[in-house]
Amino acid sequence: MKKVLITTGGGDCPGLNAVIRGITKRAAKTGEWQVWGSFEAFNGLMEDPPRLMQLNESNTAGIHVQGGTLIGTTNKGNPMRFPVKKADGTIEIENRLPLLIQKIKNQGFDAVINIGGDGSQEISQALFEQGIPVVGVPKTIDNDLSSTDFTFGFQTAVQVASDSLDRLVTTAASHHRVMIMEVMGRNAGWIALYTALSGGAEICLIPEIPYDLEKVIDRIKSRYDDGRGFVNIVIAEGAYAKDGTITSTKGEEGRQAVKLGGVAFTLSQQLKDAGLEADIRETILGHIQRGGTPVAFDRVIASVFGVKAMELVLDGKFGQLVVLRNNDFSSAPIKEAISTYNVVDPSGTLVQAAKGMGMCFGD
Ligand code: F6P
Repeated sequence: MKKVLITTGGGDCPGLNAVIRGITKRAAKTGEWQVWGSFEAFNGLMEDPPRLMQLNESNTAGIHVQGGTLIGTTNKGNPMRFPVKKADGTIEIENRLPLLIQKIKNQGFDAVINIGGDGSQEISQALFEQGIPVVGVPKTIDNDLSSTDFTFGFQTAVQVASDSLDRLVTTAASHHRVMIMEVMGRNAGWIALYTALSGGAEICLIPEIPYDLEKVIDRIKSRYDDGRGFVNIVIAEGAYAKDGTITSTKGEEGRQAVKLGGVAFTLSQQLKDAGLEADIRETILGHIQRGGTPVAFDRVIASVFGVKAMELVLDGKFGQLVVLRNNDFSSAPIKEAISTYNVVDPSGTLVQAAKGMGMCFGD
């Protein structure tokens, strides 16, 4: 029997279990491949003795409807930048890639399927360049990978956020309040934009369009002046005001520069400091967007990603990432996926359609 190793790395994401089940089912059909999972990304494999779990059709049965990941995940312990505490208490960063390669070989794995975001795929690419047969599966609720039209988990995050916005609308209307709802997405505004469109928010603030506070205030006032008397704002965690110091939301520079989270409170304070006379409330959805059962669309693409990943292994097509492009499933070089970053295009169809319906982006 041949052996394939599966890992799930980085933040969890609805659909991870569906990928694991898809791989396991496809491998079982060959009758020639065993599937093993390493707990908490590659950490389980690196331990002595290794913490691994053999996956089969019975222990993965029905897991596609469950959130989280059966084999755990972590964003700590990247083997390429492993933090080691020295005797004097200082932390030294070690490259443990050679050790990881040795462990993969020692355990007799013939292939690796690494399910994760850009950080995990950086590890996939490095392993591939060192001769390890690796296939990648893209994972993030943020939908910010340009190599695929959609990542699984994104639609679930949007559904959770959209349901929450529906609930905020009725309380906003009853109290004539300004509701500010913050959603995830790192430095991409996809979750915010889809949620605002789905829920009909009046204002949507995203990192790709730094907002002008005056324009936001004008829009809020107009809602009170025209008698509707309440406002719903969706703000992406990476959004910031035009006069902020951040100059780029693209690439690594932008990702490092933006301080994520808590922006609902920042905006609320900015509105109050500007003298806006309105009752304002803030909601930060946080990790609720990542938990629980995936919606049907995410289950479907995650399951197909799993099957396709195993088929890439069977076909010996390594260094590839499974992707969904133009309504079809295919693959792309992992290298390509980690070098480009997909953010909302301010002049693209979605933003323009939202503007056409009167949504304010603060620009
Ligand atoms: O990348 C997925 C994501 O959920 C982002 O939207 C968010 O900024 C980040 O991860 C949160 O990370 P953590 O779970 O480490 O707080």
